[in-house]
Amino acid sequence: MTFSLCRYRGQKTRFADAILDRIEVNGSTVLWDACAGSGAIALAAAARGVPPAQITIIEQGSWGLFWTAMASGAFDPTRFQQHLDAMPPAQQDVTAYMKRLFTLPCSLVDAPYTFFLLQSASVHGSAFGHQVEGDTVRWTGSYSCAKYFTPTETSVRRYPTRVMPLAAELMKRTRRTLELLRGCAVIHRDVASVPPPGPDTVVYLDPPYPGTKGYSTDTQVEFPRIEKWARSCATNGARVYASGYEAWKGVQEEDVWSVGGSRMGGAGKAKPKRQELLMRICSKAKV
Ligand SMILES: C[S@@+](CC[C@H](N)C(=O)[O-])C[C@H]1O[C@@H](n2cnc3c(N)ncnc32)[C@H](O)[C@@H]1O
Repeated sequence: MTFSLCRYRGQKTRFADAILDRIEVNGSTVLWDACAGSGAIALAAAARGVPPAQITIIEQGSWGLFWTAMASGAFDPTRFQQHLDAMPPAQQDVTAYMKRLFTLPCSLVDAPYTFFLLQSASVHGSAFGHQVEGDTVRWTGSYSCAKYFTPTETSVRRYPTRVMPLAAELMKRTRRTLELLRGCAVIHRDVASVPPPGPDTVVYLDPPYPGTKGYSTDTQVEFPRIEKWARSCATNGARVYASGYEAWKGVQEEDVWSVGGSRMGGAGKAKPKRQELLMRICSKAKV
């Protein structure tokens, strides 16, 4: 059974098992989780027995800070506990704390912990960025922190909503992640700059879907470069799959599968479902 580290935009936790079944991942698979974000696919693969040594996570955003620390074993639960202890005990005070934390520079060593706390409290799991200046990390982009909510007599939502999971829960999730993925490979940079792997590798690619918002890069500009990289992996003989709401140009109908549906827009609003598609990517777009 897989789990989510924290909410993240475009996260695939709910679809991970369907995706891994479809691409036939088993204990002997060599898997690249490219544009891995919160690592739902890598976590689910490790949970079903793929050894971390066979898993590569590629992510250029701030999750890369977290994954680099996790994979190398530098992520220290004792240090993380210190970060958790520094948080205000009352959830009502967490929003202001997180907003301030976002504005403060932190050391490279502390960045994976701080990132994970900020991301865990980010409203709807929205992404933000970071910049490294020497040994210091500064958080960039816009950051909206979730707010503590207590229902009034007239509110539609009848239960209180926390800003983020409790400290003990976050510690449990990070410990489980260390158990599952310590020792995997992490490439913390632009996927398009990574030499494509060979025929022994299954590449799962989850780029920001064109036109989607909530990431720190322009998805329309990024997408064609990432698509080109995916095709170069297929040319090299790797088995390549990608997620999307729409099939990529030139992908044949028989190479596209629905793996579930997700609601459009924010939580709690009754909006139609979008289909989450998985598609096989070949070396050339078929016409
Ligand atoms: C849809 S999200 C991935 C969600 C992920 N599958 C999960 O379950 O959390 C897309 C991710 O691609 C990353 N990304 C965008 N452009 C990239 C690039 N050129 N190279 C590597 N990662 C990239 C973003 O930072 C973001 O984390």
